[in-house]
This record gives sequence, structure tokens and C-alpha cells, in this order.
Amino acid sequence: MGEHIAIWRNHQSYGPVIRHGPNRLVFNTIEALQDIYHNERASKASLYLNIMQAPNVHSVFTVIDKRQHRVKRRLIGQALNERGMRLFEPIILQQIDIFIQQLSQPSAGSKPINMSPMLRYLTLDIVCLLSFGFPLRTQEKDEYRFVSEGIVAGNYFQNMKLQCPLLTQLRITEALQFVGNIREKREPYRAVVKKLIGSRMAENKDAKLDLYSMVADQINTGGPENIQTSELWAEAIFIFAAGGDTTSSLIAALLFYLSRNSHCYNKLAHEIRTSFNSSDEIRSGQKLANCQYLRACIDEALRMSPAAPGTPWREQLDTDDVPFVVNGHVIPRGTIVGVNVYSILHNEKYFPEPFVYKPERWLSEGFEGKLKIMHDAFIPFSAGSRICAGKAMAYLEASVTISKTLWHFDFDKAPGNLGDLGAGSRKATYGRHREGEFQVYDVISSTHDGPNLIFHPRVHLLWERVV
Ligand code: HEM
Repeated sequence: MGEHIAIWRNHQSYGPVIRHGPNRLVFNTIEALQDIYHNERASKASLYLNIMQAPNVHSVFTVIDKRQHRVKRRLIGQALNERGMRLFEPIILQQIDIFIQQLSQPSAGSKPINMSPMLRYLTLDIVCLLSFGFPLRTQEKDEYRFVSEGIVAGNYFQNMKLQCPLLTQLRITEALQFVGNIREKREPYRAVVKKLIGSRMAENKDAKLDLYSMVADQINTGGPENIQTSELWAEAIFIFAAGGDTTSSLIAALLFYLSRNSHCYNKLAHEIRTSFNSSDEIRSGQKLANCQYLRACIDEALRMSPAAPGTPWREQLDTDDVPFVVNGHVIPRGTIVGVNVYSILHNEKYFPEPFVYKPERWLSEGFEGKLKIMHDAFIPFSAGSRICAGKAMAYLEASVTISKTLWHFDFDKAPGNLGDLGAGSRKATYGRHREGEFQVYDVISSTHDGPNLIFHPRVHLLWERVV
């Protein structure tokens, strides 16, 4: 069924605080967000130590110690913050143009295209260029497409370890790697990442503009910002997963909702097609920032089908001896707490008509007086000091990809059953029964399939250069 659906159902039955496992409490209120994520006395739960890539080898995602986290976050953040994005934008734009070019090919015959694999290839190619300047070219060739499958398998495996830490302690998860060919899919991908690191380290640090060039001076220095080669590997495995299957989920969801909500589609197409004069103009800057309906459509897709729908777990610091209180409840030591992202984003106290795709809510139209409370509860990227470091990159990739797609094409959902891919179904379990909702599957990030779409090139633009 999916953990986020189970938690949402439990909140429906039992209210805003539920027990989810022997030592896990999940909350569904803005007050709890404040008490858990904006609290210096709470830290990332030690549960995440179960998903380290090797003993004592932390990534920015698994590290618990606050000081060590700040160091890692500063290093990684250089590539992912607004400034990093400005430097890196030409590479992102080039990959999105390849995506548009790929769409142009099958669309000549108006064949349905499953957007999930295409978007996974796009976001994976971008994240690999960002990390090591290496062109995987999964958008154009088969050779490295197994990396994308390896990431999905790896996410399943890591999620299993987070859900059932006992399996890890009993070393049962290692045996479970043989179920569903997880090991077979995961190992070649890990080997590629190792090889990429080796080749990149053999080059001059300034040979490429990538994350490696930004952290190279700190590798194995032994100084306060030291990063070991083994940590570089853990960071890379995490960044590939974080960047490779989250933004793809967001863009797939957005295409799904646009293909089923014609008034949103028309309004957004009009905004994009009247804001720019050519495809080349679609890039970060004032014109893109002025596309308010675009941002509202993206935020509404993130709300309806969050790309990381699970629960970011936290716990009271070991060193803290004052009672840890969340939303009026004293939390026993050893209990981990969190707010489930999917549940709060569908809490009707904060988001009226929570299962209706309504970008207008973010522009306050029809939802006057609700804007502040919606923003307070809007946590698709988590909250506090561990908030997603790739948020700027996700918005940039999603904004430009959707804008360029609408610039070059019109699109529809595929006819018949094919068009249902990715949607909920009345025959499915309760919580997955809504046909208008794009389904995500919680695996720390999320996995997804569909939508199947048919693209029609906008005829008068056929002359426009794409790449
Ligand atoms: C729609 C796209 C994305 C969503 C919804 C998303 C969501 C999240 C969430 C919920 C967390 C925090 C988990 C926690 O609090 O424990 C997180 C952390 C992180 N994300 Fe993302 N993410 C997205 C895209 C990206 C991208 C494109 C990158 C970079 C390539 C990235 C890099 C990171 C990093 C480095 C962290 C760890 C931050 C830290 O612990 O300091 N994310 N993301």
C-alpha cells in the first residue's frame, strides 16, 4: 500500500498524532512541525545510521552530528545553491533541449510516450554532469540506462532498512537483496559511480565545472572541512538518488495533472507562450520568475503527489535533559518523531479540498486568508536545518522543462487504458482509489510510472532550433 498511504489512513481514523511502530510517533499539525524541525534540541534520528553506505561513512543525508552536518552541507551546498545553479544552468538547459528533441521524434507518429523513464534519464544525466562532469547520455543511448534502474532498486533497499531496522541488525536485509533482483540491479550502478569517481580524481580538478571541482581541495586534507575519498562515494550515491528520482517524479506529476485539468493547461500554456519570445529565452531570470501560475502549478503538483512523501524522522539529542515536548505531548526518550509529508499536505485543515488539483490556491484565488497557513504547512522539501539542499535545482529543472515542453508542443493524455498509467483506480486499496491523483510510491524519495502522453508539435514553431 505504501507507508505514506497507511499513515494518512491512520490519521483519518485516529487523529493528528498516531503511533507508527513500537517507538515511532507521527504528527499532522503545524505546531508539531515547529516543535520537531525548528528545534535545536532535536536531531536527525539515529535510525538513518542504518542506511550508511559503509560503517562510519556518512553522507550529508545520513550524518547525525550537527557540526559534521554543517561542514558537509556547506561543501555540497556550493554546487546546489542559487549561485551554483547560475554557474551550472547552461548544462541543465542543454540537457532539457535534448529532452525536447527526444520528444520530437516519436511524436511525429503521435505515439503515446511513458514520461517516467524519459524524465528519469533527463534528471540522471543532469545530476551526473553536476557531480562529476561525466555525460552518461541515458537520454540518447541505452549504455548506462541500468544506472537508473539501479537507483530505483537502491532506494527500495534503503527504504526497507529504514522501515525495519531490526532486519538490518539481524543482517536479514542483506539476504533480501536477492529478492526482486535488487542486488543484480544495484551493484553495477554502484560500480559505475566508483569508476566515475576514480576517473574524475585522475583529472585536474578544474578540468570540469562540477561538484567535484568545488570540493576537491578538501579531499583527504585532514583539516576541519576534510572529506575522505570514501565519503565522496557515499555523497555521490546519495546525490544520484536525491537528484535522479525526485525531480523526475515532480515533473511526471505535473504533466499528469496538466493533461487532466484543461483549464490549468490552457492558463499555463497561455502564460508561457506570452511571456517568452523563443525557446532560448526560457531560462532563469525575471521572465521566468514572473510566471506566477507556473510556480503555482509546480507547488500544487508537489502538494498533491510529493516526490518524497515519507516522514523525516527526528529525535531528542542525547545531551538534552529537558523534557522533549511535541504538540503538547511529552516524548519518551528513544521515541522517534516526525510529520508525514503526504499527510500534512492533504490535511484539509490547512488545504481545503485536499485532493483537488487547484494551482489557484497558491495565488489566493478562492482561498483568501489561507495563504500563510498553507505556506506554513507546505513541506515537500522537509523543514529546518535539514531541508532539501537541492530545492533550487528542482524548481529550475521543473520550471524550464515544463515551459519548454509547452513552448514546443501541445499534449494530451493517451486514449483508453494507456492513459490511466500513473493514476489511482477505484479498484485499488483505499487511499489509492482517486483517479485524478498521480500515484507515488514511498521509497525515501518516490518511485512512479506514467503518465502516458501524446505530443503534437506546435506547427508554426517547427523551424525553431532545438539544440
Ligand atoms: C522535487 C524534488 C525534490 C524533493 C521533493 C526533495 C525532497 C527532499 C527531502 C524531503 C529532504 C529531507 C529529508 C529529511 O529531512 O530527512 C531532502 C534532502 C536532501 N536533498 Fe532533496 N529533494 C528534491 C530534489 C533534490 C535534488 C535535485 C537534489 C540534488 C541533486 C537534492 C539534494 C538533497 C540533499 C543534499 C539533501 C540532504 C540535506 C541535508 O540533510 O542537509 N534534492 N530532499
